[in-house]
Amino acid sequence: MRTHLCGDLRAEHVGETVSVCGWVAHRRQHGQALSFVDLRDHSGLVQVVVDGSVDVRSEYVLRVTGTVVIRPAGTANPALATGEIELRDCAVEILSTATPPPFPLDSRADAVDESTRLAYRYLDLRRERMQRNLRTRSAVLLAMRAALAPLDFVEVETPLLMPSTPEGAREFIVPSRQFPGSFYALPQSPQLFKQLLMVGGTDRYFQFARCLRDEDLRADRQYEFTQLDLEMSFVDQDDVLEVVSGAVLAAARAVTSEPVPPIERITWHEAMNRFGVDKPDLRFGMELVELTAIFAGSGFKAFAGAPTIKGIRVPGGSATHNRRRLDDLTERAKSLGAKGLVWMRAGAGGELESPVKKFLSPEELAGIVAATEAVDGDLLLLVADEWATTCEVLGQLRNDLGRPPAAQGPLRFVWVVDFPLFVGVDAATGRPKPGHHPFTRPHPDDLDKMESDPLAVRSRAYDLVLNGWELGSGSIRIHESELQQRIFGLLGITPEAANARFGFFLTPFGYGAPPHGGFAVGIDRLVAILAGEENIREVIAFPKTQSGLDPLTGAPTPVTDRQLRELGVRVIAEAPTSAS
Ligand code: AMO
Ligand code: AMP
Repeated sequence: MRTHLCGDLRAEHVGETVSVCGWVAHRRQHGQALSFVDLRDHSGLVQVVVDGSVDVRSEYVLRVTGTVVIRPAGTANPALATGEIELRDCAVEILSTATPPPFPLDSRADAVDESTRLAYRYLDLRRERMQRNLRTRSAVLLAMRAALAPLDFVEVETPLLMPSTPEGAREFIVPSRQFPGSFYALPQSPQLFKQLLMVGGTDRYFQFARCLRDEDLRADRQYEFTQLDLEMSFVDQDDVLEVVSGAVLAAARAVTSEPVPPIERITWHEAMNRFGVDKPDLRFGMELVELTAIFAGSGFKAFAGAPTIKGIRVPGGSATHNRRRLDDLTERAKSLGAKGLVWMRAGAGGELESPVKKFLSPEELAGIVAATEAVDGDLLLLVADEWATTCEVLGQLRNDLGRPPAAQGPLRFVWVVDFPLFVGVDAATGRPKPGHHPFTRPHPDDLDKMESDPLAVRSRAYDLVLNGWELGSGSIRIHESELQQRIFGLLGITPEAANARFGFFLTPFGYGAPPHGGFAVGIDRLVAILAGEENIREVIAFPKTQSGLDPLTGAPTPVTDRQLRELGVRVIAEAPTSAS
């Protein structure tokens, strides 16, 4: 039906007769003599000039055949890619009429509330921003497939209907009609199946996997999301990191010309120590500074004998933080678990001003200035506590005060490796809690500490972080039954209980499992950052609202009594409606 896309026409086409199809973005009538129509398709806008008046309205669908001409002197529009030219001598064919849309289908719709945009998502999608995002997503998927194919990866689909497994998040449950009272669960990830694919000799698997988790939604979380999920046999950690790095860098190269620095690798301990979080944002400084030694034997009782004292330097933060804001920061630190927060303003010549200055010796004050490299106008924030608390509180304050929006360039990927195998102790059972999942391999150098000092054991689990967002996780897995039993023993899971919970997964491992490991990249998060979006909803064609609803289809909806009877399901309470 068309010879060109609207947004592709340029001065080089002048003189050609072309046909374009699209939607009416604007229409202006110049008296009776001329009508100007901006015609839009996914590629952009082109101005169509029609002699006389033409009865078209916003969002009518047209086919226009006309001649490309240079716009008259002084009427070119440099803001538009096609702004030098227009179509003249046009024949206009109306392909569809249209009801006026409920909001303008341009950048003004960015200000329209979420549920309206989603209720009319098919109109929202006509906008340039949304079409660009869909195409960015598609290019990312293509680039990643292309990166993996030559490495001998096999794309395999795994089931959506599976048994309920305790994997972390709450599951979506599907009632079985054939077996009333029994349920399928939708996968939180293909984790178990991809490991069985390794037992099955597949060697290298990948899949763009839809995952479902019934968790509270946020800017970086939806119920349904997509992972680039992969697993590899006969590999160590370096092999997995190399493959995943190649795939995400290929994705970045496919959609941005911005240079991406090589992906650094830091340990979890270093991430916590320097940035106070396990997903460090390397785009800005303000690293945590170690100050403990300066206060050995301090006369200031809040610092005397504290296990760890650290601080951050907020460049120029003195002027931007009046007493009220400093009080707010102290409250924030306390809500994060600190006992308090010491602030200091740096003045000229290394002079420090602080309410606690009178408790500190001149050597301590000089030591702080030297360690933090504070200069005139800086604000210093200090916390004393256990190592973990000190790091976590200052890490949050660092992010609060310095972190740019996630999608604002540059792209800073970082690998965080050597995550602890266990995180804390379950208060009820006194047993250590797994950091990733119970199939994660302990670090080979820490195996002798598993029973004596489990919390000090590192694992072969790793995360990929981009601009402070957790982009993906993975690990080298346990492939030997004995080691798996040892971990279950530590977690207090008896062989019988393990069998009951993961039997279908553990039995196969007795038949010869290759050493293996893998990873899952959160595609929605990757695409959001590459597309310059702060919310993954903007890079998903049909997402749910923050409260988990789809205003377009009305999901979730009640079902008929007959459907419920067939499934052997009875509703025992009215769920709250969307309005309440
Ligand atoms: P994990 O649970 O860390 O690991 O998930 C991997 C990545 O998936 C993305 N992600 C989400 N994205 C959008 N909405 C959500 N609700 C959501 N939840 C997770 C994140 C996250 O980093 N099977 C393991 C991987 C492995 O060990 O190989 C897994 O699923 O970007
Ligand atoms: P206090 O001695 O509790 O009155 O505290 C004196 C100052 O030190 C107050 O500004 C507190 O916020 C701060 N403070 C107390 N405990 C700590 C701590 N563990 N780390 C950092 N600052 C603290």
